[in-house]
Amino acid sequence: MRLTIRDIQKMVADSIPIPMLTAYDATSARLSDLAGVPMILVGDSLGMVVQGHPDPIPVTLEHIIYHCQIVMRVTTRPFVVGDMPFMSYNVSPEQAIHNAARLMQEGRVNAVKMEGGEYLAPTIARIVQSGIPVMGHVGLTPQSVNKLGGMRLQGKDVESARQVLRDAKAVQDAGAFAIVLEAIPAPLAKIVTEKLVIPTIGIGAGADCDGQVQVFHDLLGLFEEFVPRHAKQYIQLAPLIRDAISSYVAEVEGRQFPDEDHSFSMKEDILAALRAEEV
Ligand code: KIV
Repeated sequence: MRLTIRDIQKMVADSIPIPMLTAYDATSARLSDLAGVPMILVGDSLGMVVQGHPDPIPVTLEHIIYHCQIVMRVTTRPFVVGDMPFMSYNVSPEQAIHNAARLMQEGRVNAVKMEGGEYLAPTIARIVQSGIPVMGHVGLTPQSVNKLGGMRLQGKDVESARQVLRDAKAVQDAGAFAIVLEAIPAPLAKIVTEKLVIPTIGIGAGADCDGQVQVFHDLLGLFEEFVPRHAKQYIQLAPLIRDAISSYVAEVEGRQFPDEDHSFSMKEDILAALRAEEV
C-alpha cells in the first residue's frame, strides 16, 4: 500500500531518517520502490540528467506530468512528490493552484514541491488550503540559478543564514508538510531542523536533517558531466555501462553477436521446403 503523509510524519516522530530519491522513468522508479525508498521526488533535475540541459529552467509542467505518470504507474509503496517547474507557480497564487492541481490530477502524485521562502508563503498557504500537500525547498533553489550566479552554497554569512531560517519558518507557517534544505552548511541545517516541527529533508545540508534526498543518477554514478560535492556515488555505473556497450559494438563488428544462444532456429524439414521453393 502507498505510504501517506502520516506514515512520513510517523517515521520522523519515531526518529527514523527518511531516505528520499529522485526517479523519472519506469526503471529508476521500480528499482527505487523495490529497494525500499519510502519517498520519491520526480524532480526538475530531470532537466539535467534526462534532458541534457545545464539547469532545470527549460523543464515544463507537461514534462513533469509525463514523468510523474510513469513513476505513479509502476510504483506501489513510495509517497511520490512532483516538482513544480520554473515559473509554473510564480506568476500568481491562482496560476500556482491551477498548476499544482494539474500535477495532482494528471500526474497523480501525492504532493507537490516548490522552491521559495518568505515571498512564496502566501502562495503555499493557498495551495495547502485547497487540499494539496506542499513540500517547501529553501537554501540553494536551482530554478534561481541565474539570480544566484551559479549553484552555490547558501547561508554562509550571518545575514543569508538568517534569511534561510526566516524562509524555512515562513514555509512551515504557510502549511508545508516538509521542506528540502539544499546546499547550506550542516550546522545551519541542524538549527533549522531543531527550530521547525515539520520534517527537513537535506541535500548538501549535513547529517542532522530528518531525511536526505539525492538524485538517482548521482547516487549511481550515471551522470559524469558534474558530480556535486554532496553526492555520494554508491556505485559508478557509467564506466560499467560504457564498457558493456563497447563490448556490444565490438561483438557486432566482429560477427560474434548474435550467437546461437541469442537466435531462434527452425526445423530442418521446414527449412528444406523453403529452400526448394521458387521465389
Ligand atoms: O529536482 C530535484 O531533483 C530536486 C532535489 C535536488 C531536491 O529538487
